[in-house]
Amino acid sequence: MVKIVRKKVLNPSVTLMEVEAPLIAKKAQAGQFIILRVDEYGERTPLTIADYDREKGTVTIIFQKVGLTTELLGDLNEGDYIKDFVGPLGLPTELPEGTKRVCVVGGGVGCAIAYPQAKSLHAQGIQVDVIAGFRSKDIVILEEEFKAACDNLYLTTDDGSYGEKGFVTDKLKSLIEAGNQYDAVIAIGPIIMMKFVSAVTKPFGIKTIVSLNPIMIDGTGMCGGCRVTVGGKMKFACVDGPDFDGHEVDFDELMSRNTVYRGEEAEEKERHAC
Ligand code: FES
Repeated sequence: MVKIVRKKVLNPSVTLMEVEAPLIAKKAQAGQFIILRVDEYGERTPLTIADYDREKGTVTIIFQKVGLTTELLGDLNEGDYIKDFVGPLGLPTELPEGTKRVCVVGGGVGCAIAYPQAKSLHAQGIQVDVIAGFRSKDIVILEEEFKAACDNLYLTTDDGSYGEKGFVTDKLKSLIEAGNQYDAVIAIGPIIMMKFVSAVTKPFGIKTIVSLNPIMIDGTGMCGGCRVTVGGKMKFACVDGPDFDGHEVDFDELMSRNTVYRGEEAEEKERHAC
């Protein structure tokens, strides 16, 4: 059991929680994740570690209420406990040797994960540009945090209600075409966004790392639930990832696999509401 020590609602559907987990905080690195169960009947849900504080012994997660588990999690408050909280799992993010300049691209709630990446790279002395994209102004999160964790922040909204109007891919393309030379691009967000970011960078030969979010069960490479095809080979995101080369990932297969349990998820939500 881990105790929730801080809860902050970032926007109507996205919540930040800081929990007491000293053993995980001691080992966590950017790019890794945890698997939690809200209660003893709960499903196992993977969430990327958004931040950690080794001194305080806390780990921060940020999640969007998209299904029953995340709704139940969102109902918990400071002082409440989460039943299981296991990690750190997966491999930390690895950049090409000698990387001096990176563009981190976050989409929607993916910005919650893009933020610790930017912060960690910036702290290592790497020049970091961030492109953070949202549908509209009302769901923008972590703007001030990003400003402190990068050299240049470019904020976009699909509807133009805040920042520049357009998609993150448009902004990335324009930055590359303007002569900004990135050693790597890190993309975290909806699968479709990561697919198109990878398509933008491919012709320029820029190493592109994507953080995949397939269905996970055990998180230890045993169940095969998280399998993805990368470079024509089967990989398990929980032990081989979650970061992969975006130019090698079969995004269409991942999108299709991620919708497999949508019916069951809706049924379970309905049953719980009764
Ligand atoms: Fe089971 Fe990855 S979650 S193999």
